[in-house]
Amino acid sequence: MQDRYGHRISYLRVSITDRCNERCNYCMPQELQEWLPREDILSYEETLRLIRLAADLGVSKVRITGGEPLTRRDVLHFMRALPKIGNLRDIGLSTNGTLLAREVEPGLTMAAALHTAGVRTVNISLDTLDRQVYAAITGRDFHSHVLNGIDAAIAAGFDQIKLNCVLMRGRNEDQFGPLIEFAGASNLILRFIELMPVSTNEVLDERNFLSISEAKRAIESYYGNLVPEAEFRTNGPATYYQIPGRNQRVGFIGAMTNLHFCENCNKLRLTCDGKLRPCLGSYLEFDIMTPLRAGASDTELRQFFLDVVDRKPKEHDFRNNYQPNRKMIAIGG
Ligand SMILES: C[S@@+](CC[C@H](N)C(=O)[O-])C[C@H]1O[C@@H](n2cnc3c(N)ncnc32)[C@H](O)[C@@H]1O
Ligand code: SF4
Repeated sequence: MQDRYGHRISYLRVSITDRCNERCNYCMPQELQEWLPREDILSYEETLRLIRLAADLGVSKVRITGGEPLTRRDVLHFMRALPKIGNLRDIGLSTNGTLLAREVEPGLTMAAALHTAGVRTVNISLDTLDRQVYAAITGRDFHSHVLNGIDAAIAAGFDQIKLNCVLMRGRNEDQFGPLIEFAGASNLILRFIELMPVSTNEVLDERNFLSISEAKRAIESYYGNLVPEAEFRTNGPATYYQIPGRNQRVGFIGAMTNLHFCENCNKLRLTCDGKLRPCLGSYLEFDIMTPLRAGASDTELRQFFLDVVDRKPKEHDFRNNYQPNRKMIAIGG
């Protein structure tokens, strides 16, 4: 699949739930959260059919996300079905990490079960190593769960584990060093992500926004000049660097300040309530659940995918103070 600007779409990010066991203040509005009714959420079978059709059209990588994907019932049943879809070469998961160490059966952690199910890469959110700050950001005192989850993921033997840290002035700029040391000790890739205006108006303003260039400067003042790694890409919009004198990679995702951010975009999103979204930072989304449930054929649904890809915008609209009427948690980060 290719759009009118030459973006080749090979990556489908799939949200399987809008629910979450945390309340990150940049992701979820503070007011009482109303979850979507069960019947408005795609069933696993429906989601698998859409992934299969996308794979027919050239999608080779899927990342399962949410909300918190591991809170959905029978998630392992779903994950185990993914490798059976031909053409998928890379199956990834984004998680807050809180449930990775949970035993799904005696002696078997969720992380190990996911690895056995065929998950190859795991992205775990970790904005701080300070337990109290973690609780203030996420609304939950789950820091130790996440650290145990990271240990479980390491023990499970995934091909790649990335830690994602959202940059927030006044909240975690003192954490760059500790997080780098933490990631380096376990050979994990740490990525710093600019705050995006995706959920609520108050989530982002000039006081709490921290750019990747400022974070990079702060890191360089301590570690020395970072060495660009132009050839290392992970199918995403991050730019990667080596920390001098070490074998350690850090990444930066600058949705707000990197003007070339969208040039190599290869991504399409499927929301948990059955919308295809060609870009996170655009209002555009297209309801594929209605034709799916009305009995559309595979050919018709494949054409739906192609039509959505054709409407993919040239670039996101975050810089124009984009505020979707949809929460990040429903879209799937
Ligand atoms: C929406 S979450 C879903 C998966 C999982 N619950 C997690 O937290 O990793 C995916 C990613 O989006 C990021 N995210 C959420 N809201 C954001 C925002 N306003 N700006 C930047 N990143 C955000 C989270 O930090 C997380 O790394
Ligand atoms: S970022 Fe992830 S963990 Fe935090 S509220 Fe959003 S979905 Fe939940």
